Amino acid sequence: MDERVIGRSNQQLSVVGLGTWQLGADWGDVDDKEALAVLEAAAESGVTFFDTADVYGDGRSEQTIATFLSGRPDLHVLVATKMGRRVDQIPENYVLDNFRAWNDRSRRNLGVDRIDLVQLHCPPTAVYSSDEVFDALDTLVAEERIARYGVSVETCEEALTAIARPNVTSVQIILNAFRMKPLLQVLPAAQEAGVGIIARVPLASGLLSGKYTKDTVFPENDHRTYNRHGEAFDQGETFSGVDYATGVEAAAEFSALAPEGYTPAQLALRWIIDQPGVTSVIPGARSPEQARANAAAAKLPALSEDTLTAIRDLYDRRIKDQVESRW
Ligand SMILES: NC(=O)c1ccc[n+]([C@@H]2O[C@H](COP(=O)([O-])OP(=O)(O)OC[C@H]3O[C@@H](n4cnc5c(N)ncnc54)[C@H](OP(=O)(O)O)[C@@H]3O)[C@@H](O)[C@H]2O)c1
Repeated sequence: MDERVIGRSNQQLSVVGLGTWQLGADWGDVDDKEALAVLEAAAESGVTFFDTADVYGDGRSEQTIATFLSGRPDLHVLVATKMGRRVDQIPENYVLDNFRAWNDRSRRNLGVDRIDLVQLHCPPTAVYSSDEVFDALDTLVAEERIARYGVSVETCEEALTAIARPNVTSVQIILNAFRMKPLLQVLPAAQEAGVGIIARVPLASGLLSGKYTKDTVFPENDHRTYNRHGEAFDQGETFSGVDYATGVEAAAEFSALAPEGYTPAQLALRWIIDQPGVTSVIPGARSPEQARANAAAAKLPALSEDTLTAIRDLYDRRIKDQVESRW
């Protein structure tokens, strides 16, 4: 699989990575055996980048990755985790002592002395403007607790503020065929600054696979049931912030644009891979089959101008008004 260098470092990672929120919680039930099989399928397909967080299953996702990698010392996978969402979301919690404690816990969960990449996990907006926060992150690097750091953001404005910081390696942001605003300023600014872009929620929580209908019922313990209106966390994380009924209809149109040889999900991933400035796209997978199909998107040819234009037109007609003013 093609690899790209993650910004401001010499570290390479695969253009298709693996999101592992699914291996923790919030997406219905995934048992440990299946979780390990997903990691195995991704790695066997050339994925060398896993994205996790201390809060996914309250550590279960990190621990599952550690279990998997300890049995596969032949693999070189860059593991990114996130920190900051196990406490109240107030700027006062983003201080060095807490960072050290959160980092200790993640290092234990991951079974490593130094974490490859740590991202602030969608902190309160004020955090991005705090010199003390970024000084504290520099301290974690100096103490060799982490190799580098980045941020995971909700809005384009937060991304731009973070990109202006000198030692931010990467920005993780929602970017997909139903979330195009980052193309306007964030991706060009990241490219200019040499900051990596990790594209999350690439399938709009699965919508862009085209497989859901208005009658689809998700499990009760799946955020696609309980966070449709932002009840538990930012609404933008669920279906990319698109109202479900609109999303299902627009996804049917999107699916019809898939060229021969592409599934709609692969069309969605290929569209992201080809956006200038993107380092890696991190679809979440709930089965080995999904992990393999997602990795295969890296090998598909680039999309035609006609397809790109049609995807843009669909976004402008059906989605843009719902999302651009918010994120
Ligand atoms: N705040 C943050 O920093 C943040 C927030 C959200 C996500 N993330 C990261 O980004 C990753 C990706 O985002 P996400 O998981 O929320 O959303 P996503 O990747 O857009 O959607 C994942 C869902 O898409 C479906 N899917 C995956 N591969 C498929 C395939 N090949 N064919 C058909 N359907 C497929 C599955 O749904 P079914 O379960 O219905 O099969 C899966 O659960 C997460 O795992 C996490 O690592 C970070």
